[in-house]
Amino acid sequence: MNFNNKTILITGGAGFIGSNLAFYFQNNFPDAKVVVFDIFRTGETFSNGNLKSFGHFQNLLGFKGEIISGDITKKEDLNRLRDYKFDYIFHQAAISDTTVSDQKIMIDTNLNAFRDLLDMACDMKAVMVYASSGATYGNAPAPQIVGKEAPANIYGFSKLMMDNLTYERIKRADIPIVGLRYFNVYGPREYFKNKTASMILQFGHQILSGNRPRLFEGSNKILRDFVYIDDVIEANIKACNPKRSGVYNVGTGKARSFQDIVDILQNQLGTNLECEYIPNPFVGQYQFFTEADINSTKEYLGYDPKVTLEEGIKRYLPEIKRLYEEYK
Ligand SMILES: NC(=O)c1ccc[n+]([C@@H]2O[C@H](COP(=O)([O-])OP(=O)(O)OC[C@H]3O[C@@H](n4cnc5c(N)ncnc54)[C@H](O)[C@@H]3O)[C@@H](O)[C@H]2O)c1
Repeated sequence: MNFNNKTILITGGAGFIGSNLAFYFQNNFPDAKVVVFDIFRTGETFSNGNLKSFGHFQNLLGFKGEIISGDITKKEDLNRLRDYKFDYIFHQAAISDTTVSDQKIMIDTNLNAFRDLLDMACDMKAVMVYASSGATYGNAPAPQIVGKEAPANIYGFSKLMMDNLTYERIKRADIPIVGLRYFNVYGPREYFKNKTASMILQFGHQILSGNRPRLFEGSNKILRDFVYIDDVIEANIKACNPKRSGVYNVGTGKARSFQDIVDILQNQLGTNLECEYIPNPFVGQYQFFTEADINSTKEYLGYDPKVTLEEGIKRYLPEIKRLYEEYK
């Protein structure tokens, strides 16, 4: 696909996945016009103590496109976007923190704002690719398949409602609309998600500091589909030209354990620290086994994930070390 001379909106572009998308276009399609829309961070926190938004200017250092600060839940902010004629919209802005329990703000931000952006995409005839989540599945049995969801928290519910809205809109929209259910994404530019950054980064820093890695009890049996950012970017690009609009899983298709992460990190860092096992405080709202069924993603988007956990950690390790040196 050639995105040169196209106008591209990335909501949530100051966040982890959005900023990686912004640099993907800048580096590969220098004649694309890329607009980032993000609320950045305000210092406000939710009742769980975490920041209300994780956008950070440092994720965009070196970005040459346009930046608009704004709130997707505010119509007057979204109206600024009406001055453009977007060809593609990558909607990543959301409350990405799965442990937030404030239901109204979750629905306002993740669902209502998506409805407004979908309207805008339809009016502008822009391709809409948006971030859904593997959290829509809750503890539905693995491998998780689109159509069999059981969200265990308000975050997963909000994403499932976005997908339901998509199915409704697909019936009459003349633009492609694609929802991507990311599983556990990791890689550069996630550092500013603080405690909600991937455990690959967090374990990496524990090990680099010489502390014993702290895992939940039974971590060799807690399995997740960890997917590297490069494969997630590829999924977004492939989603721009789908054989069929719809909702698709984005993972590797192969679940790995949290223990695997620590073992691979220790192997690649040449350490042999003894692990500490602590009780899991999230039982009941916690996913113990996720593995994306990616058959339809392969068939309808041509998605073909390439990065194993070993390879992803190898690619990421220099950045994990750099961050450790910079912020320790
Ligand atoms: N990282 C993962 O493992 C993962 C997994 C499943 C789904 N997702 C989804 O992917 C998308 C991107 O996630 P991420 O990991 O990059 O998280 P992130 O928190 O780094 O990025 C989200 C961005 O949205 C911005 N934002 C939040 N509220 C906003 C608002 N009201 N108006 C405008 N901007 C707002 C934040 O400032 C942030 O920059 C999200 O929709 C998230 O739910 C991520």
